[in-house]
Parts: sequence; structure tokens; C-alpha cells
Amino acid sequence: MGDKVAQSPADSISYLTQREAAEIDETLMGPLGFSVDQLMELAGLSVATSIAEAYKASEYNRVLAICGPGNNGGDGLVAARHLHHFGYKPFVCYPKRTPKPLYSGLVTQLESLSVPFLSVEDLPLDLSKDFDILVDAMFGFSFHGTPRPPFDDLIQRLISLRHYDQARQKFPVIVSIDIPSGWHVEEGDIDGEGIKPDMLVSLTAPKLCAKKFCGPLHFLGGRFVPPSVAEKYKLRLPPYPGTSMCVRIGKPSKIDISALRENYISPEFCEDEVEADPIDQFRKWFDDAVAAGLREPNAMALSTAGKDGKPSSRMVLLKGVDRDGFVWYTNYESRKARELSYNPHASLLFFWDGLNRQVRIEGSVEKVSDEESEQYFHSRPQGSQIGAIVSKQSTVVPGRHVLHQQYKELEEAFSDGSWIPKPKNWGGYRLKPELFEFWQGQPSRLHDRLQYSPREINGGRVWEIQRLAP
Ligand SMILES: Cc1cc2nc3c(=O)[nH]c(=O)nc-3n(C[C@H](O)[C@H](O)[C@H](O)COP(=O)(O)O)c2cc1C
Repeated sequence: MGDKVAQSPADSISYLTQREAAEIDETLMGPLGFSVDQLMELAGLSVATSIAEAYKASEYNRVLAICGPGNNGGDGLVAARHLHHFGYKPFVCYPKRTPKPLYSGLVTQLESLSVPFLSVEDLPLDLSKDFDILVDAMFGFSFHGTPRPPFDDLIQRLISLRHYDQARQKFPVIVSIDIPSGWHVEEGDIDGEGIKPDMLVSLTAPKLCAKKFCGPLHFLGGRFVPPSVAEKYKLRLPPYPGTSMCVRIGKPSKIDISALRENYISPEFCEDEVEADPIDQFRKWFDDAVAAGLREPNAMALSTAGKDGKPSSRMVLLKGVDRDGFVWYTNYESRKARELSYNPHASLLFFWDGLNRQVRIEGSVEKVSDEESEQYFHSRPQGSQIGAIVSKQSTVVPGRHVLHQQYKELEEAFSDGSWIPKPKNWGGYRLKPELFEFWQGQPSRLHDRLQYSPREINGGRVWEIQRLAP
């Protein structure tokens, strides 16, 4: 059974034979109590989330799902429905409809969302102009033989895409579900003239043909394999991150860093809408970052420069903000602390990816009061308190084991829950802001930049707001 499960020496992922894939499906739908509807729903959702991870709806909006008569086609129909909800504009070509309640239900669901169904005749010969993503959901792992009309023609249209106007800047991408249609499940693209997908979404586990896949994006979906099945078939699969329905496998292709470019789309950010006080504006954007569910929205780059004037940056976590400034905690003998003791001027930078925003704050830094540091230190988990004692931050350590040994000893010493004294060399800093810049990405690099700088007016301080060129 597991004897034919091949192993890729490069990435240690299991690949399934056609027989094994069929057996796993039978086990899931037999003794393990799954229904085909459930597995199809999860498979289609995995495909849609994989597509959404790789191709943003703002750039790749028009999706054509070409669906075959079997389960693979059903996965495509489900994926089209989820893509609609994810903000894409799906179209479906489903020329050989399967007259079973499951499939007609999927069609009804799509029709109720006004997803257009296109006949093969409706489709342009050259699919490259009307669509950004072409989902190949024609044939899955159980298919063998030669594709029959109209799928032979549809496969040909996907193959010939590459022969059209190569100079065109943006080309539609081909996403194959589980198996590139027309490929042999185990041998792959036998004559080398089949579909060359940009993305392959393997379901449950990659099939043997996936070893021959050379496109840039290989994803795994179908997060429903119970441990008993994984053990029986000795499946080695990467863990899914967090609550994700998909995980990227295989090596990322070589990336041309100079070509990485986002076209930002954000609401307008205008002078007459911003808060007069930059701290209020900061709080507003910070709340947006929290509401958007961004990871560590309080992470900020802190830049300092010491005696020699050479700058250095590192990330720290914002632990408080009020009219007096921005607070973080650290070791008072670290490199940043040394630099700040020579030169109290520093800069903070927040970057909130997903909101296309950054905030720069410059000012002078001073230590927070000992009471403030004490209070924060004792609010931290015991492990972090011990960690702060163990780490002589920014000094050279002979090895990991040294830190772990010291940590273990202290953990034992404080295992009775006794009070852990704050080390003298640990505490907070507060940056008192003297300049703010709020930046928001906009299309064509015409970004918004609003700078707040203090002005003395009648002995009082007001913040002047100026727009800077992007
Ligand atoms: C997201 C993130 C948050 C961090 N937060 C802190 C922090 O709050 N305090 C701190 O001392 N180091 C923090 N660090 C580690 C610092 O970046 C840095 O390695 C350490 O403070 C030593 O810096 P230095 O040698 O320049 O003083 C954080 C690192 C990351 C990636």
C-alpha cells in the first residue's frame, strides 16, 4: 500500500500513485464518514484560498473556471463560488453537466450569484484577453485515456496560450486543480506538449505527476486528512499554517526582486480629513491596523545613531503611546541603549502592510521612570521576565546552550512563583515626538505623505501639516 509512495529527496513530500489516491478517497468516504459533498466543498475552498494567496483580486480579477464532468469539475464549481465571495469575477465553462443533485446544486448556487456560464462556443479562441486566471478543473486523478471533445479543444486552447502575443505585459495564469488536465496521473506530461500550469493545487497529497510540475506555484489543499490515513500511507506533508486551508509546497521560484512592485489602492488621505493632533491621527491608524487583524501592529523599527554617527535599526514593540510619547522596553546596556546614551535623537517607523501605510516619528528619547518599568516588567509572563535577566542583550554568547542553561536554572529558582526582581539594566524608553509623517500608498506611485511639524504660535505649540511629494 504505502510501498509506492515516493519521496522527493529535495523536499521530503509524499507523492501518491493513482491507486493510492483512489484508496484514500474510498477510505475517507467509507469508514471515515465523509460525504463527497463535504470533500468537494473543502477541496474547492482550498483551491480558492490558494488562488487568493497567490493572485490578488485587485490585479487578477476575471477568472474562468473550465469544469469537467467529474469531481474535478465539481471542485472547480465550488472554487468559483468562493472566488466570487473573495471579490473575484468568476465565469464558468461547464459543457458536460452531470445530472446529479450535487452538481445541479452547485450550478444553482453559482447562478444565484449571477456567475455567468459560458458555452464553449461563447469562449474566445484566444483566452488571453478576457481572463486573468484560467482554472483547469477538467480532469482529476481518476481520469485515464485521451480527452474527448470538447475538452480536447479546451486543453488545446490552454496550451496554445503561450504562443499568443508573448510581448503582452500581463498574461493570464493557468491554475490546475490536482492534475493538469491531459497529463498522466503518474507519468506527467508524457510528450511534453501538454498544459504548463503556472500554479498547481494538489489536493489531499500531491500525485506522482506533480514531481514533473515546473511552474512557479505549487500549493497543497484539502486540510482534512486524518492522522490514521496519514500514517497508513506514510504521508509526509507540510503543516498548514494557522487556520489556512492551503499551504505552499515546493521551492519558491527565483524571484526578480527588481520586478516586485505593488500598485497600491487606498482611500484618499487629505489634509482636511486628518486629525489636527498627530497623536490622534496615529491612534486612528493604529486602531485601523488592529481592526484589520494585522500581525503585531505595534512592531516598529527603531533607528538610532551613536557617537560615530553611523545609524542602526532594529524592531521593537510599542508598549504605550500618549501625549508624552511612544514607549518601548529593552535592555539598558544593549547597542541601542549605548547609542541613545550618546545621542538621544531617534526615529521610529511603523509599516502596516495590507493598509498600505507607514508612519515615521522622529524625536528625542529618554528613559521612563523606574516605577513605570517595574510595573510593566511585572505584567509580563514569567518566561519573559526570566529571559530579560538571562539576556545580556547585544553581547557575544558562546552558544545557545549557555542561555538555555541559565534560563533553566532561574526557572527552577523561581518555580515556587516567588517575585522575580526586575534587572537594573532593563527598562523603558520614551520617544518624545518632534516630527511625524503619515504615508499612504496610492496608484502610480502618487502616494500621500502628510508631515506634521511643530510650530510655536503665541507661546503655544501647534502642529503644522504639509503635504510632501511622494
Ligand atoms: C517584531 C520584533 C519585535 C521586537 N521587540 C523588541 C522589543 O520590544 N525590545 C527589545 O529589546 N528587542 C526587541 N526585538 C529585538 C530587537 O530587534 C533587537 O534584536 C534587540 O533589541 C537588540 O538590538 P540592539 O543590539 O540593536 O540593541 C524585537 C524584534 C522583532 C523582530
